Amino acid sequence: MNNNRLILVSNGEPYAHEKKNGKIKCIKLAGGLTTGLDPLMQEEKGVWVAWGRGQADFEVVDENSKVIVPDKDGYELKRIKLSKKDIAGFYHGFSNEILWPICHSFIEKANFKREYWDAYERINQRYAEAALEEANADDYIWIHDYHLALVPELIRQKNKKTRLAFFWHIPWPAWESFRTIPWRNILIRQILASDFIAFHTQSYVKNFLNCAQKIGAEIDRKKNTIKFNGHQTKVTAIPLGVDYQSFAVKSKDMDQKVKKIKELYSAEKLIFGVDRLDYTKGILERLQAVDHLFEKHPEYIKKVTLVQRVSPSRTGVEEYQDMREEINRTIGDINGRYQRDGWTPIKYFHQFMEQDDLLPYYNAADVALITPLIDGMNLVAKEYVAASNNGMLILSEFAGAAEAMKDALQVNPYDVEGVTETIHQALEMPEWEKTERMHRLKEKVRKYDLNWWRDLFLKEWKGVYEQKIIHK
Ligand code: G6P
Repeated sequence: MNNNRLILVSNGEPYAHEKKNGKIKCIKLAGGLTTGLDPLMQEEKGVWVAWGRGQADFEVVDENSKVIVPDKDGYELKRIKLSKKDIAGFYHGFSNEILWPICHSFIEKANFKREYWDAYERINQRYAEAALEEANADDYIWIHDYHLALVPELIRQKNKKTRLAFFWHIPWPAWESFRTIPWRNILIRQILASDFIAFHTQSYVKNFLNCAQKIGAEIDRKKNTIKFNGHQTKVTAIPLGVDYQSFAVKSKDMDQKVKKIKELYSAEKLIFGVDRLDYTKGILERLQAVDHLFEKHPEYIKKVTLVQRVSPSRTGVEEYQDMREEINRTIGDINGRYQRDGWTPIKYFHQFMEQDDLLPYYNAADVALITPLIDGMNLVAKEYVAASNNGMLILSEFAGAAEAMKDALQVNPYDVEGVTETIHQALEMPEWEKTERMHRLKEKVRKYDLNWWRDLFLKEWKGVYEQKIIHK
């Protein structure tokens, strides 16, 4: 970005320091966001500001809370330290008990506590201050996701000239859902201090424009611009992609690993699901469909296995703890009814899986069953397409990824019978049809990958200054 530095601000950090047997080790954390932005930061030599979640994170930082990340050139990672109370109010509380359910239109799961708001304001202030400590007047500051909605205005108040952009990684809901938040106006107002805001899909852009209008902003729907308090913001949709090659790559022993997986689950065909444990992912509804599959098509008994992997998430939130128990109960019940000598219908793992361990599963799966009730994007669907040999993707029509993946078999995840019949269709699909569909899906995922997303975001962001949409 020429002479201007890039300061990136996100809740999650790209590297964590952990302690094992008294030794400190730096771990590169997986995840679409960090994998995609890390190379950019290596190039730009900017500063990344994020919450230090690692056990030994603060044993290695300097007096400014910074550490140089260990990759080829290295850039600075500035860590924010959160106390238990901060985590409860800001992260588990406002971010995950208010913004997460509301943005996913689960109004009944929201918990509007005043102390959560206080913590959110306080911690957003800390992120803003940390970014300001690093930024010169005309640097670029790129803020990410729902944890940090107040940061743009908090920075703007101190520094009028800073170039500010925001990427919102989850859905932006309809006003009918967003309006329930007691602090809705201030949230929208503060984000609007950004010069450029992007979402995954057009429908989230539309919802955001509507919400901005409801709080009194002036909207230009042709140009996708919003004027509020004398400041103009450009809004657009840029769907996040995956690092195609890193999923498509086949290690020498891949065939061997795939064979082993198939033997391990003693099934002719494997259905695969992998999710963060979250009520938005539709895991219970998916289990019902699999239950129904064995009831309606008993010919699959002893022939088809669902391997469901779930990574623990937000364990401090009650909803997530309850869900874990309900999943365990449901799987126990289904397995109890259909289990036969040496064969189990559902194999369930409650554990995080690194990309290297995930790849053989993507390669082995005849069907990927990805059925969120709502999802901002869902990168698993894209990862599976990049990795799969000749499998079939069943995808919820309510995932952001569905907008561009018309060759997947799309389902309404609430329609249990519909999902059951689609699984049947995928299992029986002729090879030629699978090949054709997969080919078209792969082309798209390869073309609109992570680099494409990042480059387009940066181009459009700079464009708002060049085209004088925003005067700086
Ligand atoms: C979503 C959010 C990310 C978040 C991720 C994992 O994808 O958009 O910002 O990092 O979930 O959630 P966690 O609470 O574990 O960071």
